Amino acid sequence: MMKLFIKIRPLYRFLKYLGRAIKGVDEKSMAVSKDELIFLLETFGKRKEIIEVGCARGQTTKRLAKYNQVIAIDPFIPDKDGLLMGTYIEDFYKTFLKNIANKNVIFYNMTSMDAFKIWDKKVKRKVDGIFIDAVHTYEAVKEDSQWIKYIKTGGLIAFHDVAYHNGVRHFVEGFIVPKHKLVGKVRSLWIFKKK
Ligand SMILES: C[S@@+](CC[C@H](N)C(=O)[O-])C[C@H]1O[C@@H](n2cnc3c(N)ncnc32)[C@H](O)[C@@H]1O
Repeated sequence: MMKLFIKIRPLYRFLKYLGRAIKGVDEKSMAVSKDELIFLLETFGKRKEIIEVGCARGQTTKRLAKYNQVIAIDPFIPDKDGLLMGTYIEDFYKTFLKNIANKNVIFYNMTSMDAFKIWDKKVKRKVDGIFIDAVHTYEAVKEDSQWIKYIKTGGLIAFHDVAYHNGVRHFVEGFIVPKHKLVGKVRSLWIFKKK
């Protein structure tokens, strides 16, 4: 069975690529768009310490890390079929490691909540900002938002996919909008200043 899987893997990859190309889905579509990225980088600025929850290929991580220190959190857990968001987990992971090599990145290869438990127990340091972009359900975003405890007052809290995922939008509208000051929105990226 395993041998068969290894043999048909290239074909599977090709068909997957073809499917995405036909549907017009960009292979990198889980990353932020160019205008979102510019907004994120300009708002976060330089010489800051920033947490990124959910890093995927590290496309945003490497750009944030150009002028900042990034605490990158991602468990890289594959689905049952060995895929992560439709792509082979090792492709994701290898690209991520390449993207963060020699960069100012501290990598927590674990879930957001496992990393939070460590931080809450041992590190306890407050940082300048957080970019939450992992699992896009209400419950997951609620959990990830526990990290806001470790954002300095006046620090930045960014959420991706607010407009495209009901769970994220409901949580952000219900819990973040009433408590924190909206700095701005670009497409599906909303950034707040912690009060
Ligand atoms: C939308 S992608 C992140 C995209 C990335 N921020 C970017 O801009 O390129 C979501 C990522 O969240 C990760 N993830 C899934 N569950 C997670 C969890 N519990 N904690 C942290 N990251 C998680 C996935 O492995 C995936 O790489």
